[in-house]
Amino acid sequence: MSATGSNKAAMELLLAEIAPDVAKVEAAIELVADAPAGYVRELVEHVRGFGGKRLRPAMVLLAGRAVNPEKTGDQHARLGAVVELIHTATLVHDDILDGALMRRGRPTLHKMEGQEVAVLLGDFLLASAYAEAASISGGAAHYLAHVTRQVCQGEVLQVHERGNLDLEEKTYLEIIEKKTAILYAASCRVGAEYAGGTAEEIAALDAFGLGIGMAFQVIDDVLDLVGDEQVVGKSLGTDLQRQKMTLPLIHFMRTADSAIVASVRDALSSGRGFEMASVIRDAVVANGSVDAARDRAEKMVVDASARLDVLRPSRERETLRRIADYVLERKR
Ligand code: IPE
Ligand code: IPE
Ligand code: MG
Ligand code: MG
Repeated sequence: MSATGSNKAAMELLLAEIAPDVAKVEAAIELVADAPAGYVRELVEHVRGFGGKRLRPAMVLLAGRAVNPEKTGDQHARLGAVVELIHTATLVHDDILDGALMRRGRPTLHKMEGQEVAVLLGDFLLASAYAEAASISGGAAHYLAHVTRQVCQGEVLQVHERGNLDLEEKTYLEIIEKKTAILYAASCRVGAEYAGGTAEEIAALDAFGLGIGMAFQVIDDVLDLVGDEQVVGKSLGTDLQRQKMTLPLIHFMRTADSAIVASVRDALSSGRGFEMASVIRDAVVANGSVDAARDRAEKMVVDASARLDVLRPSRERETLRRIADYVLERKR
């Protein structure tokens, strides 16, 4: 089997044990983002379409079941739909910011239909998510609105820091925590909370999600540099194109030979990051900066997985740990 095939199969195998619940999430997404037949509906179908890994709803379900399978059901499927729709909305908007042409193996919405439509469809998806969250008692809407504020702040900070080739690691970590990790943490938290978890279980799952989310984004940034676009199914190289400094590059700037650093800086600051991508990639890899970023992500995963020790042993706890490992190995 090809690397892509086995990677996909590994993920499918992990999710197979919660397949009936995942199917409920899909059905809930369809209901929540429903629009009358016509243009908007076609757009929703396009973004909902194939290829999304549905990792965040899986975290909602698994966190719930790890705490109490008896109390993990329809409400979790609806919460899964809400977090997936928030995520999808941020992708539609993010692709505008990054000028990305491909997402989930398809042309991006702004490429197909223009930026105006893409902005509005992202808004439509967000509003749909909150309408659903508001119908769930127990404070989910308020909490997830707060989480989405953080995601937006992370994306705004990233736009603000674009072109800052001296971006500090601390600021990078703040950006990825906000834009990515907090939604993973929230997925685990709501899963645990709505299954009646104890304060200790909820805190452990929240910390687990945060660590996994950080590692997920670090690996995403590695893939942006060294991944295969056809396998990942989305535009890569946009970080270089948009002068977004990520962990491998930050490590490179700090540790590589000064003459090589100067030439990479020159390429990036003169807007040639994308056309020089393969040269930059080779230099960053040769300097050990991709390995350093992967090591960092691995440490995040190890620390995150250890947080699950406080949960009772269960199949779901082990699946969460396997997903954590998958985050490091993923090719898409
Ligand atoms: C992509 O997330 C955005 C990041 C946070 C890096 P995913 O890789 O989970 O995207 P889908 O949902 O599977 O397409
Ligand atoms: C954005 O990060 C993640 C969001 C919160 C939307 P990226 O820009 O790296 O995500 P991709 O690579 O486009 O999926
Ligand atoms: Mg992007
Ligand atoms: Mg990326």
